[in-house]
Amino acid sequence: SKQQLQFKLVLLGKKKDQYHRESAVGKSSLVLRFVKDQFDDYRESTIGGSFSLLRLSPRWTRLTLSTLTAAFLTQTVNLEDGTTVKFEIWDTAGQERYKSLAPMYYRNANCAVVVYDITQSASLEKARNWIRELQRQADPSIVIALCGNKSDLAARRQVTQEEAQKYAQEEGLMWAETSAKTGEGVTDIFTRIAKKLPTT
Ligand code: GTP
Ligand code: MG
Repeated sequence: SKQQLQFKLVLLGKKKDQYHRESAVGKSSLVLRFVKDQFDDYRESTIGGSFSLLRLSPRWTRLTLSTLTAAFLTQTVNLEDGTTVKFEIWDTAGQERYKSLAPMYYRNANCAVVVYDITQSASLEKARNWIRELQRQADPSIVIALCGNKSDLAARRQVTQEEAQKYAQEEGLMWAETSAKTGEGVTDIFTRIAKKLPTT
């Protein structure tokens, strides 16, 4: 009999600073490629604008932040054995000031895609921090994939495949390089995640 499964997936990963758009690792771009098979060179930062929360009560602040500080999308993957896996994707804002909100998104997540940019070695350091945090605070059964994005910019590479792969192996993580721009590796990593998730 064919199974229909539903999983919550969170994307994490940070850029170096809030001023240079090109230094963002490409979480939203990966989702856009996976869900709509599109790419946008001038993508806006997820939650780019600043907004005042001063007049909101703590409860409303939480509710407002949870709806404003991540984008929600779904995409379904059909596996060869007939299983259908529906991902509920939470694309978080990478900016430093929203860091404390991340637990809201990874707390009940079945899987996490932690993204770094292969042209920014600092972004791998940030990815390692996210992975440490997930290992400490997320559900112990969470499936974590480390994803080196912007593989089309290999000429500007600062992170070798060997370094990232070795780290992923040591930590028991899935690993892939992707390009949201060309689409390389994108469907593949989400499909591998779908196959790794528990079927019951
Ligand atoms: P925040 O929402 O601010 O955390 O950023 P983000 O991680 O969602 O990054 P976003 O998807 O907005 O992409 C940032 C910039 O990198 C944009 O200018 C994208 O067009 C570009 N970009 C994303 N993925 C790729 C890629 O695979 N290759 C290239 N060359 N550029 C990319
Ligand atoms: Mg984004």
